[in-house]
Amino acid sequence: MRIGIIGAGNMARALGGGWVAAGHEVVVGARDRAAAAESAGAIGARDGSIADAAGFGEVILLALPVAALDEVLRANAEALGGRTLVDCTNAFAPDFANPHGPTTFPLSEDAVAERISATVPAADVVKAFNLLAAEVFQGPERSFEGRTLTVPLCGDNPAAVGQVAGLVEDLKLRPVHAGGLARARYLEATSNFIVGLWFGGHDVRAMFPPLESAFAVED
Ligand SMILES: NC(=O)c1ccc[n+]([C@@H]2O[C@H](COP(=O)([O-])OP(=O)(O)OC[C@H]3O[C@@H](n4cnc5c(N)ncnc54)[C@H](OP(=O)(O)O)[C@@H]3O)[C@@H](O)[C@H]2O)c1
Repeated sequence: MRIGIIGAGNMARALGGGWVAAGHEVVVGARDRAAAAESAGAIGARDGSIADAAGFGEVILLALPVAALDEVLRANAEALGGRTLVDCTNAFAPDFANPHGPTTFPLSEDAVAERISATVPAADVVKAFNLLAAEVFQGPERSFEGRTLTVPLCGDNPAAVGQVAGLVEDLKLRPVHAGGLARARYLEATSNFIVGLWFGGHDVRAMFPPLESAFAVED
């Protein structure tokens, strides 16, 4: 598959590297062409401008800060029409200086994926990959305590969700369709909540029983 990645930072390298390794054609596009060349070179992708990446991919990963989305989407709206846009963004950045502590990292916006869809209505937006740190996608571990890491996806178009599910499997992870795009805001809030807990030193995994024990069982 042809994949365009807009942005040349941590997520571009972590996800793009996995997709190159899985045999996809990847173009990393960034406003700073030297940065695009460095990131693309590091993962075996091709580099280009943002417009190059937008025009290349059947699937486009938006590996940008939330604050950059509006400008980039509007400038490339025509090229992005008809594409699958993967939104991995989080509307917060871990902030150690936050006076209320890490568990209350502020969320600057509560429905980024829906805003992307409203800005480029001709594209199919799928929210994915926002729950885990880039290092986890880049790292070798795929299974913890016998459970394969699962990536929830929110999107409305089954074909687009299917494309992204395939890209999750290419990273040796397990996709789960977690609902339509209207559910993406909860995935965004979940990320904010759990990352705050992780930064606060809490074991989020210990907060949930496994599925078989999730509900009371009649005896
Ligand atoms: N890193 C993680 O662990 C992680 C995990 C889950 C989700 N996310 C989310 O994924 C997204 C990308 O994160 P990241 O860690 O890859 O960020 P990053 O390493 O800071 O890279 C961001 C990229 O966006 C570009 N950019 C910034 N402002 C721009 C603008 N106005 N116009 C065009 N390009 C611009 C940067 O280019 P310049 O170098 O020129 O500024 C850079 O190439 C964020 O929304 C983040 O919340 C990150």
